[in-house]
Amino acid sequence: MALRFEILGRFNRARAAQLTLPHFVCQTPLFMPVGTQGTIKGLATNQLEEIGCQIILGNTYHLALRPTSELIDELGGLHQFMNWPRALLTDSGGFQMVSLLHLADITEKGVTFQSPVDGKPMLLTPEESIQIQNRIGADIIMALDDVVKTTITGPRIEEAMYHTLRWIDRCIAAHERPHEQNLFGIVQGGLDPVLRDICVRGLVDRNLPGYAIGGLAGGESKDSFWRVVAQCTAALPEDKPRYVMGVGYPLDIVVCSALGADMYDCVYPTRTARFGTALVPEGVLKLKHNAMADDTRPIDPTCACMVCRTYSRAYIHCLVTKDAMGSQLLSYHNLYYMMKLSRDLHTSIIEGRFPEFVCNFLRIMFPKGD
Ligand code: GUN
Ligand code: ZN
Repeated sequence: MALRFEILGRFNRARAAQLTLPHFVCQTPLFMPVGTQGTIKGLATNQLEEIGCQIILGNTYHLALRPTSELIDELGGLHQFMNWPRALLTDSGGFQMVSLLHLADITEKGVTFQSPVDGKPMLLTPEESIQIQNRIGADIIMALDDVVKTTITGPRIEEAMYHTLRWIDRCIAAHERPHEQNLFGIVQGGLDPVLRDICVRGLVDRNLPGYAIGGLAGGESKDSFWRVVAQCTAALPEDKPRYVMGVGYPLDIVVCSALGADMYDCVYPTRTARFGTALVPEGVLKLKHNAMADDTRPIDPTCACMVCRTYSRAYIHCLVTKDAMGSQLLSYHNLYYMMKLSRDLHTSIIEGRFPEFVCNFLRIMFPKGD
């Protein structure tokens, strides 16, 4: 195991912890921005440090295609390659293939897909995914899982869960750097509590350094989503980090943290920025809207970020449709908002103010009469 997880405070099921990884000491609850090609689109690594990002995601699938994991390994690993001194996490690749390609075929061996480079069929096995992630060198690596959309039903959900459970042993056996990199298992099982339970128990038996809850935020209702998170966090060990994958919206992070989850990742803050949307305590602010054209206020008058201290809504409105700088400034603000949310969750849990924080968060986001 290459991590330490110390719980510093609790409020009912919510926890605030210190997660010590090989490259950085992180505070949880924790939001992790997603970089696909070894970068968070539009932001330099020194800006990510300035924003307060503690750990960022890289995608095995994208990095393996270009520049290739062999080259990253030769150049000293992803930390050195992208000049990011803090923590990194890589996802295993299966989810990206299934969600991006739609033509992936899943068998006991692994995930077969058509190479987007030359169209040839390629096979990603659990062993290969781990080998690639070992070369990339992130602090946390993810097991290869079989992900199905929560909106489908039938025997495919069960098959995917058992694939995931059998693949974890192949991932563990293939992992060559357990003292430098932490392999997390991923709970699958769709919306079926029996399948989720079998998967959680199976993974917990393997005594992994951390656990993820996967297969969510794929079109199911909030009620179903939160129920799965509540069930899994209740069954996972207290003393290990719990990561809800692909989540999410600020409200989901607050709810999942109340349910005992610790880590999150999502493209939402940076993707929505590219569409001209800013995250604010009231919800969202659409900078493309005509009303912004002569609005001299900052995006969020309560935000202390560089963008809100420097630029007006009118200026960003002017940029968003014309220049990449518009979405870069919005990404900066949005990630700052997510980091501040993470910090506020952490400190409010430690200081025994978590209920007040949640009430205040909800009161501003959902004002009376709306
Ligand atoms: N990203 C979002 N959801 C998932 C998931 O279920 N599995 C993996 N590997 N990555 C994800
Ligand atoms: Zn701001």
